[in-house]
Amino acid sequence: MVTRFALQHPLRSWHFLRAPAALSKLMGGKATSRELHQWIGEAGAITREIQRRLREAAWEPGRFPGATATQDRGPVLYAITRALRPEVVLETGVANGSSTYYFLAAIRANGSGMLHSIDLPPGQDLNSEYRRADAIDVAKGQEPGWLVPEELRPHWQFHLGDTRLVLPKVLASIPALGLFFHDSEHTYEAMSFEYENAWPRLNPGAILGSDDIGFNRAFFDFVKNHRTPKVLVGGFGFTRKPSA
Ligand SMILES: C[S@@+](CC[C@H](N)C(=O)[O-])C[C@H]1O[C@@H](n2cnc3c(N)ncnc32)[C@H](O)[C@@H]1O
Repeated sequence: MVTRFALQHPLRSWHFLRAPAALSKLMGGKATSRELHQWIGEAGAITREIQRRLREAAWEPGRFPGATATQDRGPVLYAITRALRPEVVLETGVANGSSTYYFLAAIRANGSGMLHSIDLPPGQDLNSEYRRADAIDVAKGQEPGWLVPEELRPHWQFHLGDTRLVLPKVLASIPALGLFFHDSEHTYEAMSFEYENAWPRLNPGAILGSDDIGFNRAFFDFVKNHRTPKVLVGGFGFTRKPSA
């Protein structure tokens, strides 16, 4: 199974194997490669729980596109959140709530922290061009983040609306971020908008991450312009704000 995955996705497997060491270096030694490896393994339980909830909701592959968007790489989000122990995390793009689940589980394991998430009302993806490229829907009749269990919700604040309008307002109303993660509209314009707005509100040493960096050049242009290092894990990209 592992070998088949490696043969089908050689670049992705290589990224995954290298991820703990590369992320440890990017995070300036906040966690060792061994710790990150351990947390990635620990998060397998969350993946299994997500799969159980999807089965319970009679999910079939292709039925709720996006329900499993970050399941294969979600453990990386969990491990980074464990390592950074951020007091404030902000993500854009919730859909059914896979990434949200990994962030919140890590926050709970850390003992403190708050996750802010932004998404549109279900069925209102604004950019039709983007929708054709990556049609991700919340399961019919469900709210964004429906996968997230009740006990994790006290550490979660959900903000409804278009990231272009809502993100600047949320950023102005919360303390500086330890971690930002983009997974909403993957157009060059929207991705650049989010990165550039979030960047000044990141603490020194904080991490900016993004899903689907291969959709366009936005992430690569961003790190080039800001002259910051990058780590790629599957379709995720991460960079770090320099320490003060
Ligand atoms: C790729 S999915 C998110 C997947 C999720 N992070 C996960 O782990 O399963 C993208 C989400 O972004 C939302 N979205 C798209 N355009 C948006 C916009 N302009 N503002 C806010 N959310 C947006 C969509 O409604 C959709 O739920």
